[in-house]
Amino acid sequence: MKKADIYIDKNFIVGEVDKRIFGSFIEHLGRAVYNGIYQPSSPLADEQGFRKDVLKLVRDLAVPIVRYPGGNFVSGYHWEDGIGPKADRRAKLDLAWSVIESNQFGLNEFMDWTKKAGTSAMMAVNLGTRGIEDAKNIIEYCNIKKGSYYSDLRRSHGYEEPHDIKLWCLGNEMDGPWQMGHKTADEYGRLTEETGRIMKMVDPSIELVACGSSSPQLPTFASWEATTLEHCYDQVDYLSLHQYYGNMENNTPDFLASSVAMEEFICSVVSICDYIKAKKRSKKTLNLSFDEWNVWYHSFEQDKKLERWTEAPHQLEDVYNFEDALLVGSMLITLLKHADRVKIACLAQLVNVIAPIMTSDTGAWKQTIYYPYLHASLFGRGTVLHTITKSPVYDSKHGDAPYLDCVLVMNVEEETLTLFAVNKSLEEGMEISCDLRQFSDYRITNHIVLAHDDLKAENTETNPDNVAPRTGGASSIQQGYLTAVLERQSWNVIQLKKS
Ligand code: AHR
Repeated sequence: MKKADIYIDKNFIVGEVDKRIFGSFIEHLGRAVYNGIYQPSSPLADEQGFRKDVLKLVRDLAVPIVRYPGGNFVSGYHWEDGIGPKADRRAKLDLAWSVIESNQFGLNEFMDWTKKAGTSAMMAVNLGTRGIEDAKNIIEYCNIKKGSYYSDLRRSHGYEEPHDIKLWCLGNEMDGPWQMGHKTADEYGRLTEETGRIMKMVDPSIELVACGSSSPQLPTFASWEATTLEHCYDQVDYLSLHQYYGNMENNTPDFLASSVAMEEFICSVVSICDYIKAKKRSKKTLNLSFDEWNVWYHSFEQDKKLERWTEAPHQLEDVYNFEDALLVGSMLITLLKHADRVKIACLAQLVNVIAPIMTSDTGAWKQTIYYPYLHASLFGRGTVLHTITKSPVYDSKHGDAPYLDCVLVMNVEEETLTLFAVNKSLEEGMEISCDLRQFSDYRITNHIVLAHDDLKAENTETNPDNVAPRTGGASSIQQGYLTAVLERQSWNVIQLKKS
């Protein structure tokens, strides 16, 4: 049995959790939109063509924001193609994913969907093939009440009130050579500064996210951030990070240690932002938007065989297994541990495309990764306390990796404490002890466990509950000390409430 100790103090606060760290992402890609959230021909769809079964699963997740419409897609997108009467909309080539985009679903449909899904939009503008003029027009269409060409155009489309979208991404992965309209950091930094300035002239109440690196593996990482921010630090509100992990070598300990790499990535980007802050003698602290993160690798081979120029193909349809859920749990813990600087994060993506929710023509089901995302979104709101962990470590390709990843969230209003914990040991359970004497009147109300003997176990349409959480994990509290036994390879949520 492994052993670990956790130390917390209610005065040692990391920060308030911004609920937007439990965001997600819908791109015009594969079956995310078409046959995912939108399938008018389906008996499962409502009068607007939105899949009701999907809406329910999304609402259950309490997703606070959804990034849209891309991703790589946005870098070639003309948002005007997706508004107005559907019969007049033209199908176009989407060069990002080599498919046909019918444009039957666009900005207004998305905004209607967000209302039904109980979420709000994080909208991206095309800074690849387009630029300032396009960004100026779309924000006028979305956020100005009336009296101008684009605001009145929206009203003529049946939307009298503005959409009032508060959060905007200035392009997508503009550092990536694969991106349409890929730019150097100087080019992007200047364009972002000017686009941001003009968008805020139209609506000063918006917040803007500038593109950081698509991955820390790119050779331009770090200098991209520094150069971009030299230009646009004063104009933007967040800098983005994107990162996906995979178990290509089938080495589970290394794979599970990817949260160490994520931690390093966040710390590096924080340092770069603060370097520019110092250089500019600025009073403003720039926060982070980790607006694409997940496991992504299962579908690589399959996607190489896709025929070009079809509509809504099965693309990026990773079928997640149990070990993926463990890593997603560790990644959520990592995001929470940086609640002071990471204010936005989007699990990429939400439906069918590298997603927690899958659909067929006959139903929708939860992938393994749905569960840690659900638990963090529902129970991870409050104040993150510094969670000092004394855990045994193992050697991994990312350096020393602790067997235990954990974080404690205190919710003062609801008088609850929630400990999220992953035991990465594939061989042994772990006895943890946490000094909670400052919370001596708190009692354990629940201990959720997601565990499975088979790391490669999946949920499928015919076996949707193969990997599912249960309650009744082994934990107790005595004289202010919480002790628990975390099963080998398990995700745990231990909840306490003031009695
Ligand atoms: O989420 C899938 C793709 O990954 C996005 O379109 C792109 O931004 C990233 O490379």
